[in-house]
Amino acid sequence: TGNVTYDPGFMNTAATKSAITYIDGDAGILRYRGYPIEQLAAHSSFTEVSYLLINGELPTADQLETFDGSLRRHTLLHEELKGFFGGFPRDAHPMPVLSSAVSALSTWYQDSLDPKDDAQVERSTLRLLAKLPVLAAYAHKKSIGQALLYPDNSMNMVENFLRLCFGTAAEPYVPDPDVVKALDLLLILHADHEQNCSTSTVRLVGSSEANMFASVSAGIHALSGPAHGGANEAVLKMLREIQSSGISPEDFMEKVKNKEDGVRLMGFGHRVYKNYDPRAKIIKQTAHDLLAKQGKNELLDIAMKLEETALNDEYFISRKLYPNVDFYTGLIYTAMGFPEKMFTVLFAIGRLPGWIAQWREMIKDPELKIGRPRQLYMGETERNYPGV
Ligand code: CMC
Repeated sequence: TGNVTYDPGFMNTAATKSAITYIDGDAGILRYRGYPIEQLAAHSSFTEVSYLLINGELPTADQLETFDGSLRRHTLLHEELKGFFGGFPRDAHPMPVLSSAVSALSTWYQDSLDPKDDAQVERSTLRLLAKLPVLAAYAHKKSIGQALLYPDNSMNMVENFLRLCFGTAAEPYVPDPDVVKALDLLLILHADHEQNCSTSTVRLVGSSEANMFASVSAGIHALSGPAHGGANEAVLKMLREIQSSGISPEDFMEKVKNKEDGVRLMGFGHRVYKNYDPRAKIIKQTAHDLLAKQGKNELLDIAMKLEETALNDEYFISRKLYPNVDFYTGLIYTAMGFPEKMFTVLFAIGRLPGWIAQWREMIKDPELKIGRPRQLYMGETERNYPGV
């Protein structure tokens, strides 16, 4: 195999140079294009952050207005594409429905598939950013058996998405401004995270010059796993199980530490952060603020107890395991009215501008090569077929 380095899980392999997101996992630092995540969370919007990640600079007021206007204009889906939702079983998980729908977009928008054509790349960027939340809302409506609504382009992306999920044709829907603000914030916090599993997938697929829709569809599949984006759903399942079984958080932690049945404390640990995830810090506060409005929340109490126990326990301290972005998000999404199956879909909506920015950076990279890892062959040496 020659000069091959064995690095399972790519723990030490930089597969690309990138100027988009900076993480210092030991110090708990995250910056998009140089801007600290705390400042963007406090002062920016998801639309502005999307522009920043994709274009490299914050937009002027005019640029932001034009960008936002384009996104509003691209929300409509082809009527035939809506029929596509009827082809899935009612209890389908919305993640595969979403990735299939994104894959299907490439069959309707064949004029924006060429990765080498800047105008086409720009069109597929706007189409994906505008249509993914609509597809996501339709996946939800499909699962609860309600009619699909048309987008209302007088609303911004987050308001529109909430209306498409929770509104009905029967009555006007007015989104709660606190929920709009909290969801916008969560989307900002998820918008990019350098070369994570789904982003690396988007880059690997795109490195073959597959189009942006195909690459993002693959990224959504990668995100669906419980070790990645699926963790937010797994956290809530874990909290509910603890609640319904009556096991104390301390006893549950003993099971985790003894690795009984491979049980892990979901929402804890991260490949890069060996410190408190800076996103989790911001989210924890949001969870408190939003849930406080709804009175006592037993699941939040369990989560806080688990966190407190973990942060003071040698098992977690020695392995540098801290809450990650997913530990509190599920509680917030529940308070907003989303079913558990939608949590990872919300992560996908947030991560989309990051996937697009990374795909576009890759396509323009003069050093781009098709992604093609090597292996250490461990199988049989040459042997003869019987009778030869
Ligand atoms: N609960 C209990 N033990 C853990 C946990 C956990 N959540 N995470 C890691 N460990 C232990 C693990 O058993 C191992 O112990 P030992 O050295 O005794 O074998 C040690 O910590 C190192 O773990 P690892 O699996 O080698 O670490 P990794 O970098 O390969 O995995 C991870 C990172 C995020 C997959 C892992 O921490 C995990 O499974 N966490 C729970 C799932 C989760 O919350 N995922 C969301 C990640 S953040 C959002 C995202 O990027 O999608």
